[in-house]
Amino acid sequence: MLAQEKNEYKKTLPSGIVITTTKSEHAEQLEALQHLVFPHLAEEEILHADQYRRHIEIFPEGQFVALDGEKVVGATSTMRYHFDTDDQKHHTFFEIMGGGWLTTHEPHGDWLYGLDVGVNPAYRGKGIAKGLYRTRQDLCRRLGLKGQMTVGMLNGYDAVKDKMSVDEYYEKVKRKEIFDPTVSVQEKIGFEIAGLMKDYLNDPTCGNAGAVIVLYAEKAI
Ligand SMILES: CC(C)(COP(=O)(O)OP(=O)(O)OC[C@H]1O[C@@H](n2cnc3c(N)ncnc32)[C@H](O)[C@@H]1OP(=O)(O)O)[C@@H](O)C(=O)NCCC(=O)NCCS
Repeated sequence: MLAQEKNEYKKTLPSGIVITTTKSEHAEQLEALQHLVFPHLAEEEILHADQYRRHIEIFPEGQFVALDGEKVVGATSTMRYHFDTDDQKHHTFFEIMGGGWLTTHEPHGDWLYGLDVGVNPAYRGKGIAKGLYRTRQDLCRRLGLKGQMTVGMLNGYDAVKDKMSVDEYYEKVKRKEIFDPTVSVQEKIGFEIAGLMKDYLNDPTCGNAGAVIVLYAEKAI
């Protein structure tokens, strides 16, 4: 407990929202936030309170919440991972997060894998996600990692799914012909698109697909 307190991260955003290391007392609120943020995701892909408590034991320095007072309004879960941009291994979201338990965390992994970022809809557009990505960037530098990567959900696909395949949609997002509400926002933050991961999760709104995106540690955001 003492070690966790000693390593606690704390940063206040201009809006007054505090980004800090997740503690076990946040677990129930985090589970509720998952339902609010990912309403279409299959229940087995939602993180639950017991799983959050386990993440804190496995990789405490990689778990963050955004707080408005005592209220959890944003969060991100991460783990370390061996990743090669030129030789990407297909995996599902469920597999990569160890079924939600983070048993897949590789203590010597050279990249930070962001499992999710979620912000309460009532708090969006205030820089909270950017604050969480910056916090992850600080962590990459502290741990000497190459950078952070994730698979961003192609959430805008649902609106055009009758007009094009998810492959075409991905190409259009990559060429900046379509602004995707998640992946294009992540690009605005500084991520680069590095690949398409099909059959990544069970969410028809994104055609079950995501874009592999990377943000090198040296890049200022
Ligand atoms: C994606 C998400 C995390 C963004 O959170 P947020 O706190 O509103 O984002 P921020 O306020 O930090 O915005 C970051 C940048 O994106 C821009 N942005 C955010 N939402 C946008 C939108 N819908 N359209 C255009 N730009 C947008 C902001 O203007 C900002 O750019 P700037 O720095 O140039 O001003 C939030 O919408 C969310 O939780 N979505 C559902 C869950 C999800 O898809 N998570 C990501 C995949 S795991």
